[in-house]
Amino acid sequence: MNREEEIKKRRTFAIISHPDAGKTTITEQLLKFGGAIREAGTVKARKTGNFAKSDWMDIEKERGISVTSSVMQFDYAGKRVNILDTPGHEDFSEDTYRTLMAVDAAVMVIDSAKGIEAQTKKLFQVVKHRGIPVFTFINKLDRDGREPLDLLSELEEVLGIESVPMNWPIGMGKNFQGLYDFTNDRVEVYQPADGERFVALSVLTKGEHPLASNPFYEQAVEDAELLADAGNPFDEARVIAGKLTPVFFGSALTSFGVQTFLESFLDYAPEPHSHQTVDGEAIEPLETDFSGFVFKIQANMDPRHRDRIAFVRIVSGEFERGMGVQLVRTGKQVKLANVTQFMADTRENVQNAVAGDIIGVYDTGTYQVGDTMTTGKLKKAFEPLPTFTPELFMRVQAKNVMKQKSFHKGIEQLVQEGAIQLYTNYTTGDIMLGAVGQLQFEVFKDRMEREYHSDIVMTPMGKKSVRWINPEQLDEKMSSSRNILARDRFDHPLFLFENDFALRWFKDKYPEVVLKEEFSV
Ligand code: G4P
Repeated sequence: MNREEEIKKRRTFAIISHPDAGKTTITEQLLKFGGAIREAGTVKARKTGNFAKSDWMDIEKERGISVTSSVMQFDYAGKRVNILDTPGHEDFSEDTYRTLMAVDAAVMVIDSAKGIEAQTKKLFQVVKHRGIPVFTFINKLDRDGREPLDLLSELEEVLGIESVPMNWPIGMGKNFQGLYDFTNDRVEVYQPADGERFVALSVLTKGEHPLASNPFYEQAVEDAELLADAGNPFDEARVIAGKLTPVFFGSALTSFGVQTFLESFLDYAPEPHSHQTVDGEAIEPLETDFSGFVFKIQANMDPRHRDRIAFVRIVSGEFERGMGVQLVRTGKQVKLANVTQFMADTRENVQNAVAGDIIGVYDTGTYQVGDTMTTGKLKKAFEPLPTFTPELFMRVQAKNVMKQKSFHKGIEQLVQEGAIQLYTNYTTGDIMLGAVGQLQFEVFKDRMEREYHSDIVMTPMGKKSVRWINPEQLDEKMSSSRNILARDRFDHPLFLFENDFALRWFKDKYPEVVLKEEFSV
């Protein structure tokens, strides 16, 4: 197959959800359909730490979660699918957000009984900002959940995205009969008495199936009529623009509706998209020269080695083993010799990887999150990755005051790597760390001890809201324990507000001070 065809068949996406909505279960089902795993349970076993071939940090095993996202690849219906996993535990981290910078689409899994939960909402905002398509899977229909129409309104009200159902539940919980599949004009029967899972609508219309007289089916038909009149029409362009989300109902645990979902998803999910450079030039995937960017760096994949893996999303061209690339930030040539790609249950050496794929480059400290690598005439860096404003803060000190050197070196490197964010108290000079998830602190502490031999003491400061200010408005007298004046690692001044109350109080007291959610000049 030529390169163009290879690139066009790539479908790269991430699943976003709140813990327990069923992301692991659905991922397993997808991998199973793709033949990437033989049995459901493999991904789950990894999650619970029963996975034999573990290449994770101790902390991941202890907590039974995946600290950093991995990549799973399989082929289905002529497409090469890359699923980028996003840590699903409450302790998610900036890596979860950054992973969303490397995908072309997102699948949002929602628990039908719970609706939209906190973490889904946060991840959705990032996806929405990027304007990429979102496909929704409302899960656990085998259990009693909320009214389907109610769930659709919630999507619009809470997330501000319009929705179009692709199928409709026929009952739910113990009354779950199946799914009315609008796309394929058929009903997928939940537990068919005669073993026939798919029944054409024409058969039901003629009354030639027991389900035809079932009150739950009648209700679904009524709902479908209502939706046809009052719902949003399916519009592919709006789906691709991220303005309309196709909604699929199903039950991942019983593998019901998942395959139909996968097939529909692959019909509409976009092929690899172009990526903008700092100059605003769009680099197309079919460009001959290779280019890519590092969206995360994972340390100690194999605890026996202190190696790090830089995850690279290929934007254009094709990766070839041993190829030389230019690292735009430093202008240096580096050879991509030791490269891996990630499968469901093993790390395989990359055979051919093209635009849309993710490769893992062995790293001894060369790369930073956001780095661009290119070949040939492509020489410009891609737009920088956004930083995600932290919410949680810790004060941090070296346990042994005599060991300041390794303490500062460790902090500097881990901050540069993007593992955590650094702030300094403007008045006292105290070092404060910011993260989007608690786990980032634990990983940081662990790595400081193991990699830099620096024992640290961390004092929780709780949640804070960060607001940057203009340097010319800086006045140390405005600082208090409720609004701490600090500087970020680029020396930009900011306040850490204890809560909304403190923020409002400050705004009343200093109305002339401009508070910004991001630093800008
Ligand atoms: P996550 O990755 O999003 O955190 O969720 P995960 O797939 O681990 O699923 C969370 C729980 O929900 C699991 O139950 C799982 O079996 C269950 N679940 C997932 N999909 C469905 C579904 O379609 N229907 C029903 N009824 N349950 C579903 P658990 O009790 O926490 O774990 P386990 O006992 O299955 O190991």
